[in-house]
Amino acid sequence: MKIFKDKHTLQKEILKNKGISFVPTMGGLHKGHISLIKKSKKSKLKTLVSIFVNPKQFNKKVDFRSYPRNTRRDIKQLKKLNIDYLYIPTYKDIYGFKPKNKVYLDKFSKKLCGKFRKGHFEGVLNVVNRFIEIIKPRYIFLGKKDYQQLYLIKKHIEKKKIKSKVIECKTIREDNGIACSSRNSNLNKKQKKVASYIFNYLTKLKKKIKKNYNLFNINIIKKDLINLGASKVDYLENYNIESFKKIKKPNKKFNLFFAYYINNTRLIDNI
Ligand code: PAF
Repeated sequence: MKIFKDKHTLQKEILKNKGISFVPTMGGLHKGHISLIKKSKKSKLKTLVSIFVNPKQFNKKVDFRSYPRNTRRDIKQLKKLNIDYLYIPTYKDIYGFKPKNKVYLDKFSKKLCGKFRKGHFEGVLNVVNRFIEIIKPRYIFLGKKDYQQLYLIKKHIEKKKIKSKVIECKTIREDNGIACSSRNSNLNKKQKKVASYIFNYLTKLKKKIKKNYNLFNINIIKKDLINLGASKVDYLENYNIESFKKIKKPNKKFNLFFAYYINNTRLIDNI
């Protein structure tokens, strides 16, 4: 595994390859990332993983500061997985140049997390656009836990006629059902239990509302989540996952999207 901190040295090495399979991360690697990396390795192209905690996608400084970081452990894991390249850029390496493409931000960026984390998706698209220009990946592997992010990245790529293809990967879950996330490492045992109660509650709720949509009473559900131990609920909304329209009655292809806090830890998922 070759490690790069500078884009010029990285480009000299990778642009001679037939194509790159790219797994962007902010570190704090977990089973979800490992599954993305394993998928990427199956592509037969060289796998490049990046670790960069992108300050521009955090709307609160304290969230940026408390975001789990463990680069030494991440490097060990990546070596074991036998990936080809690891890129750990500095802020200047990413933001010290003017990208050719302007970011395209689809209107869906104003919904769900976009409503509650001002500037978040602008920050995500900004960094992803830069990574794409540096790496020119053939494939980009992204998890469905961050479905809105995945959708917006796809829209940007489509609109700008970029040749990279997004590979959508299923959400990997802990044994207790909750979606793997770097942020889970900020939860203690009791808080993990709360997260799993909430996951079970919402899984059952989805089954019920598929049959009878009148049971989707947002005020009652929010109260239930608080009683289960959530500190705050940002949103609970059902969207058709093809059209990305909010649904008003049961529909075959809808997912329940939610974001809530346990103390200061914000968790998101869709089921
Ligand atoms: O999903 C993430 O970890 C980040 O949003 C990403 C795609 C690496 C951009 O910083």
